[in-house]
Amino acid sequence: MPTTLRKVVIPVAGLGTRFLPATKAIPKEMITLVDEPLIQYVVREAVAAGFTDIILVTHSSKGAIENHFDHNFELEKTLAFKNKTELLEKVGNILPDEANIISVRQPQALGLGHAVLCAAPIIGDEDFAVMLPDVILSNNSTDLKNMAQAYTKSGHSQIMVEPVPQSEVDKYGIADCLGADLLPGQSSKMAAIIEKPKVTEAPSNLSVTGRYILDNQILNLLKVTPKGAGNEIQLTDAIAQLMEITDVEAYCLQGTSYDCGDKLGYLKASVEFAVQHPVLGNEFKTWLKEYI
Ligand code: G1P
Repeated sequence: MPTTLRKVVIPVAGLGTRFLPATKAIPKEMITLVDEPLIQYVVREAVAAGFTDIILVTHSSKGAIENHFDHNFELEKTLAFKNKTELLEKVGNILPDEANIISVRQPQALGLGHAVLCAAPIIGDEDFAVMLPDVILSNNSTDLKNMAQAYTKSGHSQIMVEPVPQSEVDKYGIADCLGADLLPGQSSKMAAIIEKPKVTEAPSNLSVTGRYILDNQILNLLKVTPKGAGNEIQLTDAIAQLMEITDVEAYCLQGTSYDCGDKLGYLKASVEFAVQHPVLGNEFKTWLKEYI
């Protein structure tokens, strides 16, 4: 029976080595895309999809993330005193009233599966979502919402996938839907899932894209999942075990995804979000055309 989805786990303990030196002293999730930190886009997407309990699995160096979603009394007082109402509105409403930020630490970097397991005491017995904060979806994406609806309808876990070039399958979790013609926005039963297969051994080019809705049973499986690819406890391996006890579906992304943990992916996202920015967009577009 599907449960009401309220909880989303966002693992933010990763040190962001792909983005050094920018991430030496600031969390990678606090790098700005136009005028907001990356994590704000991810939390907004979660809330828009109906999630209210945002569980950050975090690290001692990542306090800035929690501070960003908290009130800053001194700043708000100062903005109010200076009648900067528009800015006050912006910094005071970063987290919608209906949402809560809850933090738990990941004491050791043992992998994504381990990060999710660290949130188990807060997840309790509910089904839940996982969002990887490096993956930013195109503006106003409804994909996570669609996944939640597909889960409610079928009662089955949903794993977001999208096609990638065959030469890149060894960078991702890869889903096997037995050649089903998976159209964007649709879900199909998965037959297998494998973390970072060799290019010659991948069952398809459908890569796992950083959004998951998971059956609670995965938590018990994660407790006994051995280390896998990269010598880490992989969420993908636990999903493969989950498929032995219940159906799991792949959901095909409709919009565009950007890997903002990677410098080039981040630059591409910066252009899309700058072009679409309600205030800066038009001027930026004109400049961009001239520049090119
Ligand atoms: C993680 C997951 C992988 C997924 C990828 C998406 O890998 O383990 O299955 O395809 O995120 O970004 P990572 O990029 O952390 O190595």
